[in-house]
Amino acid sequence: MADQTPVLRIQNIKKSYGDNKVLKGVSLELNRGGIKVVIGPSGGGKSTLLHCINFLVGLDEGRIYLNGKEIIHNRKRELTAYRQKVGMIFQDFNLFDHLNALHNVLIGPVRVKKLPKSEARERAVAELERVGLRDHMTKYPAELSGGQKQRVSIARALAMDPEVMLLDEPTSALDPELIGEVHEVIRDLASGGMTMLLVTHEVGFASSLADEIFFMEDGKIVEQGPPQKILFNAECDRTREFCAKIGRLHNNSS
Ligand SMILES: Nc1ncnc2c1ncn2[C@@H]1O[C@H](COP(=O)(O)OP(=O)(O)O)[C@@H](O)[C@H]1O
Ligand SMILES: [Mg+2]
Repeated sequence: MADQTPVLRIQNIKKSYGDNKVLKGVSLELNRGGIKVVIGPSGGGKSTLLHCINFLVGLDEGRIYLNGKEIIHNRKRELTAYRQKVGMIFQDFNLFDHLNALHNVLIGPVRVKKLPKSEARERAVAELERVGLRDHMTKYPAELSGGQKQRVSIARALAMDPEVMLLDEPTSALDPELIGEVHEVIRDLASGGMTMLLVTHEVGFASSLADEIFFMEDGKIVEQGPPQKILFNAECDRTREFCAKIGRLHNNSS
């Protein structure tokens, strides 16, 4: 029988900034190869949720399990190992501007995985090739388009050999004509079996890729279900209103 343990299990995460209760108890599970999409209004806590899952910010409450094992984030080695397994893609790419594409991808395998430079380079080249940037490896971020920069950041995450990828609105900072090339890379990852938690408001893309959509508002998952249900036939009024709005904005994207 297939292993039913979720790759990632998030249990009752709570997080406040001062008096602002941003996450009010969020739980979710990612099964191997599963793709879950998070949608919801701005300020609802989507980015904070992903930051908490990666321990970029401390949790006030809650537990996170990778392959059934709870992550004790104040054990530095455990956290470093965990972060290699849980890759993170940001809206604004987060590349090192003073390093070219190749070095942006190489630096993790060298510094964190302690791979010999030649091996790290080989891996970095392969990942850049996988995202279609073999011919742009020596370019600096300032010389790349937004779509290319986001593909470098995906290659950088892949070079760490992650089991899960967290993607926070990976195409929202891109000009419309550059969105497709990033979606194509994400689709390739999906067909390769990558487990993903993706925040996006690209309705066509989300509905073709996700096995489940979470509607998140005001720090809580309000409703969850298969894409067709959440996007087009939700039970909660708030989910329906929100989906109607993003549907009008994004219904031509894929
Ligand atoms: N580093 C931070 N410091 C203080 N408040 C923050 C910080 N990050 C997010 N917030 C607040 O948390 C709330 C949720 O933000 P965010 O997680 O970015 O929502 P979303 O990604 O859904 O738009 C907002 O009220 C925002 O102002
Ligand atoms: Mg956000």
